Amino acid sequence: MKNFFEKTKLFNKNTILKILKEYSGPIWIYQDDIIKKKIHQLKKFDIIRFAQKSCSNIHILKRMRKLNIKIDAVSIGELTRALVAGFKPENDEIVFTSDIMNKETLQKIITNKITVNAGSLNMLEQLGKYSPGHRIWIRINPKFGHGHNQKTNTGGENSKHGIWNPELAIPIIKKYKLNLIGLHMHIGSGVDYIHLKKVCDAMVNQALYLNQDIQYISAGGGLSIPYKTTDIPINTENYFTLWNNARNIISKHFKHKIQLEIEPGRFLVGESGILITKIHEIKKVGQKIFTLIDAGFNDFMRPVLYGSYHDISIIPIDNRSLHTNKYIKTIIGGPLCESGDVFTQDENGKLLEIRLPEIKIGDYLIFHNTGAYGSSMSSNYNSRPLIPEILIKNNIPKIIRRRQTIEELLKLELEIK
Ligand code: LLP
Repeated sequence: MKNFFEKTKLFNKNTILKILKEYSGPIWIYQDDIIKKKIHQLKKFDIIRFAQKSCSNIHILKRMRKLNIKIDAVSIGELTRALVAGFKPENDEIVFTSDIMNKETLQKIITNKITVNAGSLNMLEQLGKYSPGHRIWIRINPKFGHGHNQKTNTGGENSKHGIWNPELAIPIIKKYKLNLIGLHMHIGSGVDYIHLKKVCDAMVNQALYLNQDIQYISAGGGLSIPYKTTDIPINTENYFTLWNNARNIISKHFKHKIQLEIEPGRFLVGESGILITKIHEIKKVGQKIFTLIDAGFNDFMRPVLYGSYHDISIIPIDNRSLHTNKYIKTIIGGPLCESGDVFTQDENGKLLEIRLPEIKIGDYLIFHNTGAYGSSMSSNYNSRPLIPEILIKNNIPKIIRRRQTIEELLKLELEIK
């Protein structure tokens, strides 16, 4: 196996070594150049809207804004982050996508005049009652979906998302004179071309059937990235062409140009990120070897929740070269007091052994492609504070989130007397 620096040319060796000297414990690192490169690949779309749930650090959001990207928010927390990062409600810079909305969220949306992408009829009723004329999109469930895992499939009968019968939305929209500006479909994460063609056709059918003049259509997100070295990167040209054809038919129908929007999360940030951890124990258990690192599934959840694969590489603590012909077979586990805290497992929870070069306690173990749904899905399970995040821009690392302290964690409870 190659060591980290031989494996990826994306991170400068001296920069990473400098970070490792300065910080201990697991850290998330992002590389700005990769984000920029990924944005560039989607430049043909009229609007790129970043699904911030994939990576919601305010400094990443600020960077996105600077790079002319708009933002999607799915909770009052994400809405607040978007506003703090400088996104403006004007020009639909922020769109709030959801299937339900509580009073506090509704209030914030109305006060800040945030455009809403409604995933349910009741949301339209709520908005209409308190904010007639509000700018809205409707999110349509196209009655089929697709995802890298059942849990990330967001269309069809097994998905709670979107409006099943969008024609029922029209009388509500009319009643409250809501301003319908766009139609949105997102069928899931990890979309393939067959499903993509189907969703483009579904968008055309719905737009023509509903026959409500609109300004935008959104292709949603879901563009996959190559997690395995054998995965073929998606062809963004094909992706655009399919959607552009759909847009052109709809533009022709309404006799004016419809703007084409795309809403990726993973595609923009996934490959920009790594998680650096340290090996604390290499343990024989019966016939098996467990390698235990200092990050747990509270930090990085994808492998445990979905059985997701992430490439792993090593930075030897002592600069030794890693033998290319000597391997151990090992299971990678974390520090949590739960047997399922294992990063090498399939989607049914079966533990998998992977091949690593001869590792030592103290070596760094790096997970690749963790920029999306890495840090943003972390929790405080086992009372573990959130770990730092660092953004490397022009080869200069900058801390963009410090480590949470245990005191901060306990404060929520201790301030109650
Ligand atoms: N738009 C909507 C309405 C969505 O629900 C999502 C993701 C996206 C865009 C962005 O999808 P992306 O381009 O990132 O695939 N935690 C899972 C992914 C859940 C995605 C939920 N919705 C994972 O780690 O794979």
